[in-house]
Amino acid sequence: MSDSPADFLRTFAAEFDGRFDAYLKVADVPAQLREAVRYSALAPGKRIRPYLVARCCELVGGRRDDAWPAAAAIECVHAFSLVHDDLPAMDDDDLRRGRPTTHKQFNEALAILAGDALLALAFELLVRHTPDRTRVGEMVLELARRTGWTGMIGGQAADVLGQGTPPSEDLVKYIHGRKTASLFEAACRLGAMAGEERADAVAALGRFGRHLGQAFQIADDLLDVTATSAELGKRAGKDVSAGKQTYPRCVGVEASRAMAAEEVQAAVAELSPFGPSANDLRALAEYAVSRNY
Ligand code: IPE
Ligand code: IPE
Ligand code: MG
Ligand code: MG
Ligand code: MG
Repeated sequence: MSDSPADFLRTFAAEFDGRFDAYLKVADVPAQLREAVRYSALAPGKRIRPYLVARCCELVGGRRDDAWPAAAAIECVHAFSLVHDDLPAMDDDDLRRGRPTTHKQFNEALAILAGDALLALAFELLVRHTPDRTRVGEMVLELARRTGWTGMIGGQAADVLGQGTPPSEDLVKYIHGRKTASLFEAACRLGAMAGEERADAVAALGRFGRHLGQAFQIADDLLDVTATSAELGKRAGKDVSAGKQTYPRCVGVEASRAMAAEEVQAAVAELSPFGPSANDLRALAEYAVSRNY
C-alpha cells in the first residue's frame, strides 16, 4: 500500500461506512433515538479502530468480510464513548467531528440513551454477524473486558476523578492505558481472532494496539494544546481549563512528543513477525502521532 495513512483511511472509511450504515438500519425504534444513534455513529470519524480490525484480520490470513461485524462493534463502542464523553457531566463539549455534539443536536436524555443503545448494539452486531460461531464467546469477552470497568469505562472514571488533582505521570499512563489503549488493543485482537489466528499472533497484535493507543492519546492531548478547534472538529484547549491529567501538563510538550515516539517504536517492534504486509500499520503508527486532527 503506497498511499499515505490519511488517504488509505479515507478510502477505508468509505467502504466501512457503507456496511456500518446498513447495520444501523432498523425499523421498530423510536425515530428520534434512531436519528441520535445514526447521527453519532455515522458522523465523519477517522475510523482508525475499524481499520485496525480489518487489517489485523487480513494480516493473519483472514478475509476482510469476516472482520466487518467486529469492526462495526468496536466503532459502536467508540461512538458511545464519545457521546458520553461529551456530556455536560463529563467533558461538557459542544463540538464533535465538526458538528454539534449529540446532546446539543438532540438533548441530554437522548444522548445518554443513544450511547446506551450503541453499547448494546455493539454486542448484538458481534454475536449476530460473526461468521465463525466457535469464536463468538471469546470475542464477546474480549470486547466486554476492554470496554467495561476494567477497560475504557474504568479509564473514563479515572479521567474524571483525576480532574483538578496534582499532575501525576503514573496516573496519566493509567488513564491512557484504560480509556484509549484498551479499545485499540481490542480492535487488533478482535481482528486477529476474526482471521482465526493463533494465540501468539493475537497477543502480538494486541500489544501493537496497546502501544499505538498510548501514542494516540498522547497525541490527542498534544493536539488539545497545539491545534485549533477548526482543525480538530472538536474544541481545543479544554484540557488545561478542566484540570485534566495529561502528559503536556505533567512533563511539557517536548517530553510528551518524545514519549509518544517511544510508544510508536514499541508498537512497530511488535509488527516484526508480519513482514512487509504490515507496512500500512507501521505508517499508521507514525501517523497517529504526526496527524493534525
Ligand atoms: C477520539 O478518538 C477520542 C480519543 C480516544 C482520543 P478519534 O480521534 O479516533 O476520534 P474520531 O473517531 O476520529 O472522531
Ligand atoms: C476520551 O479522551 C477518550 C474516550 C474514551 C472517549 P478525550 O476526552 O481526550 O477525547 P476528546 O479529546 O474529547 O476526543
Ligand atoms: Mg474525556
Ligand atoms: Mg473529551
Ligand atoms: Mg482529548
